[in-house]
Amino acid sequence: MIEIHEITKTFQDKKIFITALKHVSLDVRRGQIVGLLGENGAGKTTLLRSIATLLTPTDGYIKVAGFDTLDNPNEIKKRIGVLFGGETGLYDRLTTRENLAYFATLYGLSKHETKVRIEELAVMFGMKDYLDRKVGGFSKGMRQKVAISRTLIHDPDIILFDEPTTGLDITSSNVFRQLVLQLKQEGKTIIFSSHIMEEVTLLCDSVAMMHKGELIYKGKLESLYLEENSRDLNYIFMSKLVRGNQSHVS
Ligand SMILES: Nc1ncnc2c1ncn2[C@@H]1O[C@H](COP(=O)(O)OP(=O)(O)O)[C@@H](O)[C@H]1O
Ligand SMILES: [Mg+2]
Repeated sequence: MIEIHEITKTFQDKKIFITALKHVSLDVRRGQIVGLLGENGAGKTTLLRSIATLLTPTDGYIKVAGFDTLDNPNEIKKRIGVLFGGETGLYDRLTTRENLAYFATLYGLSKHETKVRIEELAVMFGMKDYLDRKVGGFSKGMRQKVAISRTLIHDPDIILFDEPTTGLDITSSNVFRQLVLQLKQEGKTIIFSSHIMEEVTLLCDSVAMMHKGELIYKGKLESLYLEENSRDLNYIFMSKLVRGNQSHVS
């Protein structure tokens, strides 16, 4: 579903070059839920933005649903839903319905399709009573539901969430977790970045660990537990960071 092949991304900040991604390769199959782990600056957002066709790789290529991010970004955008960090992209002065309808227009949904899809999402996320209220007064958790609904308005097969629960309280984080489990049942392919190991353990079947632009582990969570002889992802992650890419040395 997603094929990332030897991606390198270098940014130039005045005279300084920063290589945010170094030869990253990763395959994500349909229906997989992948947790993207890494410290601040590891390259997670850069990788997600590259998959979403929002950044051009310096080297390598990415294919999403068979389409190359450089050659066919529009085909990819149709099939992908993206939610980056704290930015919900919602208009406070509009109601939930108006917000969702606005994004539906951007994706070219007809009036009828929009109506049907908004009802579906309202049922799925338990927000029927909130459809005609202004988003401005909503709790963080409720805003998050609307923001995620916005991400899903065109019923994408692939969903990318960049640190979706950072800055959320426990109740709102639980809302997110519940939604991911629901999306998983629908067979969606999801990649999300997170600092919260518990969340990754709970939701993901696979993990990709990044460190300073490199992928230091990719694979099934269960295989990782076996390999490391531990089920404590926090501990495993920290010890992998210490060992870096040199696990063959010891
Ligand atoms: N637009 C940019 N210009 C220059 N450097 C950038 C830009 N975006 C990201 N970087 C740098 O690339 C590295 C990876 O950043 P990022 O992908 O945001 O990491 P993460 O999301 O894992 O915290 C960091 O060193 C960051 O400073
Ligand atoms: Mg980031």
